[in-house]
Amino acid sequence: MSASRILNTTLGQADFHPHLSQQRRLYEAVRAAILTQQLAAGNKLPSTRAIASDLGIARNTVIAAFKQLAAEGYVSSALGSGTYISASLPENPLSTLAVSEPPIANQPSTSCGDAANLSARGSKSTAYAAGARFEIQPFAPGDPDFSIFPLKLWQRIQNRVWRDARPELLDYGLAGGYLPLRSAIAEYLRASRSVNVSVEQVMITSGTQQSLDLCAHMLTDAGDTAWVEDPCYWAARRVFESRDLLLHPVAVDAKGIAPNERDLATAPRLIYVTPSHQYPTGAVMTLARRRKLLDIAAAKRAWILEDDYDSEFRYTGRPLASLQGLDPYGRVVYMGTFSKILYPGIKVGYLVVPPALVRPFKTALYDLQRPGQMTVQAALADFIALGHFATHIRKIRQAYGAKRELLCKTLVAQMGDGIAISGEESGLHLVVELPSHVDDVAVARLAAESGIEVMALSTYYAAQPARRGLLVGYAYVAPGKIAYYGKLLTNVIRSAVRK
Ligand SMILES: Cc1ncc(COP(=O)(O)O)c(C=O)c1O
Repeated sequence: MSASRILNTTLGQADFHPHLSQQRRLYEAVRAAILTQQLAAGNKLPSTRAIASDLGIARNTVIAAFKQLAAEGYVSSALGSGTYISASLPENPLSTLAVSEPPIANQPSTSCGDAANLSARGSKSTAYAAGARFEIQPFAPGDPDFSIFPLKLWQRIQNRVWRDARPELLDYGLAGGYLPLRSAIAEYLRASRSVNVSVEQVMITSGTQQSLDLCAHMLTDAGDTAWVEDPCYWAARRVFESRDLLLHPVAVDAKGIAPNERDLATAPRLIYVTPSHQYPTGAVMTLARRRKLLDIAAAKRAWILEDDYDSEFRYTGRPLASLQGLDPYGRVVYMGTFSKILYPGIKVGYLVVPPALVRPFKTALYDLQRPGQMTVQAALADFIALGHFATHIRKIRQAYGAKRELLCKTLVAQMGDGIAISGEESGLHLVVELPSHVDDVAVARLAAESGIEVMALSTYYAAQPARRGLLVGYAYVAPGKIAYYGKLLTNVIRSAVRK
């Protein structure tokens, strides 16, 4: 049988990785054919042009799939002479055969067996697995558009840093991080987020997860109470659980966190909030609520952890100043990240701590985490100082704003009055509300079968009954595909609502 026929047959099977992209499905089909020896070692594959035409897919898709196969050693290609199945396969190829489903937040995991002999704390941390994802799918909430990142420019800046690197940049990171970066961040936060900050108060971390963990370590003891928003960012909850805190969920409404009498009867050491764009509902905390929360924290001598993870993306109205900027009591620890603005893998975030916490936090950050990556910090400092950061923010805000509008238009055009959208004023995702009888986890699973990665709103709640809905991200998806995937999504929603 010809290679194209073999691939056509495999790809024609409805259950052959239906949730993956065309490129990934082709890659899987070729690899499966090689591993089952339908395509024999040493044989030449048809040209990418011929395969694209036979399968009715874009040539670029075939080229990208072949590149991946070549990178993993399944095929080899020489310029001008075509692509051949490798004579020897990569080591242990079968171990990579499993394709994981896109993750559903907070799905209980069955994969962590007793055999690992984990500590009670370790087992608790892995009881819920977000899941290692195989690839990002359209509408994945929270993922930025990597194609906009100015890769060439970043490479040039990094190269320059390495060329001119003083030996100190090769050492462990300084306590608190690279000074010019801390200084650039302080300036940025003062100007754009009204944060009250001196350079001394800024500490570079390897992202929000580390910032949260450091705060939990330094400000709480096991058994202390932490207020978390309900619904809440699952990864923050995981950190607090790992520190053996008692989590006290506080309801969130359209104005942000809304503590009631029962909540006020507790004595939190920490209060974790996302005021600019509540994760996951997207609610923006009102000024009155911000003031009230600050007063509560002062009265209870609690620390507020303000996670300002995506405040740069506000599309309508003026951004509200940070909670930290309104704080007369010095009870707020502010944290930000470069994951959303630049790219998640950069793993650089920052903390702004009240003056009284500067010394202890710096010491702990250095002793417990032993930071590094000074060359990345130096490149980032240059990137900001040379004005590229401001330009990049403008560019992505515009791009995401346009995608957001296109997504909203598509959803409304498809569903008319039958759809309620919330949390779309800012951020990288919006929420499609679902009626309370609809199982949003099942809808998210169905959407995954159509190659769409959305998250079920109910899985972020502690209290029941939870609100039902879908978190739909619009930053990562290509603009040209929004209408297509938007229609697919509304078809899935419509059939679920009708049932
Ligand atoms: C609420 C919230 N905070 C922070 C982050 C980013 O965290 P990190 O800096 O660890 O990448 C995310 C990422 O999705 C998030 O949703």
